[in-house]
Amino acid sequence: MSASWIDALIMPGRQLRQLDGGLLTALEPDDRGSAYDGRAAMYDRVIGSRLYNRLVWGSSPATYADFAATAVNRGHGPMLDVGCGSAVFTAAAYSSTDRPLILVDRSLGMLARAAERLDARGIHSGRVAYIQADLFDLPFRPQAFSTVASFGMLHLFEDLAGTMGALKSQVSPGGSLHATSLVGESPIGRRALALLHRSGEVAAPRTEGELAAAARDVLGPTSSICREGSMAFMSWHA
Ligand SMILES: C[S@@+](CC[C@H](N)C(=O)[O-])C[C@H]1O[C@@H](n2cnc3c(N)ncnc32)[C@H](O)[C@@H]1O
Repeated sequence: MSASWIDALIMPGRQLRQLDGGLLTALEPDDRGSAYDGRAAMYDRVIGSRLYNRLVWGSSPATYADFAATAVNRGHGPMLDVGCGSAVFTAAAYSSTDRPLILVDRSLGMLARAAERLDARGIHSGRVAYIQADLFDLPFRPQAFSTVASFGMLHLFEDLAGTMGALKSQVSPGGSLHATSLVGESPIGRRALALLHRSGEVAAPRTEGELAAAARDVLGPTSSICREGSMAFMSWHA
């Protein structure tokens, strides 16, 4: 059983199962989970590192954290973060708000790490739900959230329009969507993305222009993008 504020967001006919450690899952019991399981500690060390971000992507964790804080301050009520990972860049923003948070990831390892991190910051577990679910099969009512975030996710999937569409469908009228994506806008960033693509970690590298074109097609003219190095920050207001 989950709390009633969580139940109110769940699409009729969908159910969440309780797992160890206070996590919930929307996946079937035989689902094989995620390639990110078991990588959370390494993710925090490498991806959370200022040096790695500066050298490889020309971006900074501080800009990422500021973008997350902007998202948190837009809208009221429960906020959805799809692909929350270990909350390495978002924990500060999430501890600066009283909003209920729905943190979704396919990986239980990443969710458990996020829960540990937010617990350590004293965030009351009663206002955060950690839900294992797939971005392309979210268990929530359509348009249930005035703020939807998805950081570091858009570059993972070949179907960019489908990814944006799945996120858009969760945004309430007047709400907003905030997403980040790696883009190939520097020689080293392009090489790094191509390498990750060859190892099956990300989609074929895209430019900022390609991301902007998809955003215009799927989200319309109220989408905007800015960029620091190879990290693009996209916002859309419904
Ligand atoms: C690059 S990490 C980004 C994590 C976090 N948002 C950040 O910025 O540090 C991508 C995350 O997406 C999750 N993920 C990958 N595919 C997913 C899917 N189809 N549905 C939900 N989460 C997914 C992974 O488990 C991982 O935690």
